[in-house]
Amino acid sequence: MDKSEKMALSLSGMLLILFFGAIMYAAVVEDIQVPTCITDMEPFTSDTLFQSGPETYELQMVARMWAFQPSTVRLPVGSTVDMYLTSQDITHGFMIENKNVNLMAVPGAVNYIQVTFDEPGEYFFACHEFCGAAHHTMAGRIIIEEEGAGTQMGALQ
Ligand code: CUA
Repeated sequence: MDKSEKMALSLSGMLLILFFGAIMYAAVVEDIQVPTCITDMEPFTSDTLFQSGPETYELQMVARMWAFQPSTVRLPVGSTVDMYLTSQDITHGFMIENKNVNLMAVPGAVNYIQVTFDEPGEYFFACHEFCGAAHHTMAGRIIIEEEGAGTQMGALQ
């Protein structure tokens, strides 16, 4: 084997180890999750929020031109939310400020991610995919309240 081939092979091996290490670091240390497309769930047409465990909630969110339903969600601090997202019309985006949440809202499909809110405060969310004339109005917030507060969802206030 030529010396340059050996070098190219060694370099490729080192890069593989580096990339694998970066993926493991993101998954274990940074707790970054990749959204999942749920294939065994019918796309829903209305929003739902319910408590599924002592500190876990399930949120089904619908995107449409040009709003998210619900646009306001209230949850107690420490909540872990199983979040399901679909679209009623065209493709929208969904991101939550200061959280590792970045989903696409795709018509006919349901995307899923789990997110935990350990700090109280307001978490702004918005559509990040240009979707037409009123794209800039597609926003809302998740309000994380101190212990003892109830859950609630509704229109933007
Ligand atoms: Cu929906 Cu931009």
